[in-house]
Amino acid sequence: MKDIFDKISASMGPLGRYADESKGYYMFPKLEGPIGNRMVFNGRERLIWSLNNYLGLANHPEVMAADADAAARFGMAYPMGARMMSGNSVYHEQLERDLADFIGTEDTILLNFGYQGVLSAIDALVDRHDIIVYDAESHACIIDGVRLHMGKRFVYTHNNIDNLEVQLQRATKLAEQTGGGIMVITEGVFGMSGSQGKLKEIVALKQKFNFRLFVDDAHGFGTMGATGAGTGEEQCCMDGIDVYFSTFAKSMAGIGAFIGADKNVVKYLRYNMRSQIFAKSLPMPMTIGAIKRLELLRTRPELKNNLWNIVNSLQNGLRDAGFNIGVTTTPVTPVLLNGTIPEATQLTRELREDFDIFCSIVVYPVVPKGVIMLRLIPTAVHTQADVDHTIKAFTVIKDKLASGAYPRDEFAAMNA
Ligand SMILES: Cc1ncc(COP(=O)(O)O)c(C=O)c1O
Repeated sequence: MKDIFDKISASMGPLGRYADESKGYYMFPKLEGPIGNRMVFNGRERLIWSLNNYLGLANHPEVMAADADAAARFGMAYPMGARMMSGNSVYHEQLERDLADFIGTEDTILLNFGYQGVLSAIDALVDRHDIIVYDAESHACIIDGVRLHMGKRFVYTHNNIDNLEVQLQRATKLAEQTGGGIMVITEGVFGMSGSQGKLKEIVALKQKFNFRLFVDDAHGFGTMGATGAGTGEEQCCMDGIDVYFSTFAKSMAGIGAFIGADKNVVKYLRYNMRSQIFAKSLPMPMTIGAIKRLELLRTRPELKNNLWNIVNSLQNGLRDAGFNIGVTTTPVTPVLLNGTIPEATQLTRELREDFDIFCSIVVYPVVPKGVIMLRLIPTAVHTQADVDHTIKAFTVIKDKLASGAYPRDEFAAMNA
């Protein structure tokens, strides 16, 4: 009989296989110093484009003061236990009311973490008779939620409304047999490509099909819409979103998440989401800190304006310099190059060592073989000088890549 650990000695998994070469540099790098556009990596200050600190709240003095005050008053332990049992507080309830007022849903429920929250909400909302129809490029937390589902699921081609319609026809037929309902799941902003989910068109399909819509707007909350209330606001279809999710880990620069929905749905989630019933509630600094972050997000439009000035300047500058940045209509800025994994590792190193630019690099299997994606996340605390320097440096590495200057086979095995 095999030992369960035998497979670990055979393989560390698709990412773990690079562990020895990449630990501390490409994977698990340490970014040190105050969170911002410049941080220390490997002992030197670099320009950082890889943090989802969209509005620059992570290091905002009022946020830091709110976090510190709450920690001094309550420590990190209070309140103890799950919300339902012993872990509730007036601050948790206030934050839920503030969030509902802001996004315009009847109520909201706080979640300890976004990932488990999405998974657990999907689990609570569907039963074995129901059918899930979801976008093919959905975040891992949606995929894992779908994995938990005991009924049928249909996946539609990313953002392809015709294909969604086909899947809804199949789902409708099946639901008539099982006696269940249909839940469509998409993201508001897709975190890799920066494309927006076609929420308005999906909502319009409600005229033809009977389904509920679940939107994960992790990257849209705070960045999209006139007030920052997210991609539903941006596309003027918030009313058609039945379950609105966002995390606090991006624009809100914290930990935790929430779901907004009609009162009855939120009430049901409070009593049926296993990730909330069986886990400790958010500690006070996260809760009181989130109240402060939300206040700033709502009342300081200059933060979102700064963000979008940098987004526009970076994206227009890259396009003008001949870069392919795909189909983004949001702050997420992918720069798509053609090359092998050895070339990608080499040019990333050069960006870091010669130009002091730190950004995330995405390669196969997340993007197709032969594509290198450098993913930039502009924030409210970047400057025009940061943008100019980056476009210059990217132009140098793009030209070098095109001329074949980077070794294509240095780590040929890594590309196998
Ligand atoms: C689209 C999306 N959903 C959910 C999550 C998970 O949120 P959290 O970090 O709060 O667990 C993330 C990433 O953080 C995300 O990008």
